[in-house]
Amino acid sequence: MRIAVCPGSFDPVTLGHLDIINRASKLFDKVIVLVSFNKSKSRASFSTTERMEMIIAVTGHLDNVVVDCYDGLLADYLKMTGAEVIVKGLRAVSDFEYEFQMALANRKLYEGAETVFLTTAGENMFLSSSVVKEIASFGGEISGFVPPQILDTIKNRLYKPEK
Ligand code: PNS
Repeated sequence: MRIAVCPGSFDPVTLGHLDIINRASKLFDKVIVLVSFNKSKSRASFSTTERMEMIIAVTGHLDNVVVDCYDGLLADYLKMTGAEVIVKGLRAVSDFEYEFQMALANRKLYEGAETVFLTTAGENMFLSSSVVKEIASFGGEISGFVPPQILDTIKNRLYKPEK
């Protein structure tokens, strides 16, 4: 069985992430969406449990997708679970250098770790969790950016209008 891992901060999951997860689920027998920790990102807006719950809510239609979290190295998670592939979405050239470096580092740490890049859908080129959070914090419209099942959770957490 070929197992792939889609790692990320998912703070929160966006339509861009969901597109990559959907497409990965067609390419591999099993996909683990892994809420992982990016030390270069400061405090998350959603707890690990909340992020996992949001991903579960939007991937329920995908039979071969499961959600997990891990606070260690991705390479160690692959070793532990027998997963062979890391799936990452690539938005633009600007993503490439960082993603390329991570792919090489992961393979150095664990030679069984192969990274596969899926090009993002054109309409999601600009999309990131940070953009969603910025717009939501001003009360802006984010329905085109995140799955409908989690829209209210995100709006309620991030928009605090002045009384
Ligand atoms: O959504 P993000 O923040 O761009 O995802 C980055 C993430 C969480 C996948 C990356 O930081 C990661 O793999 N973290 C786990 C720790 C690790 O293995 N770091 C070394 C990667 S070479």
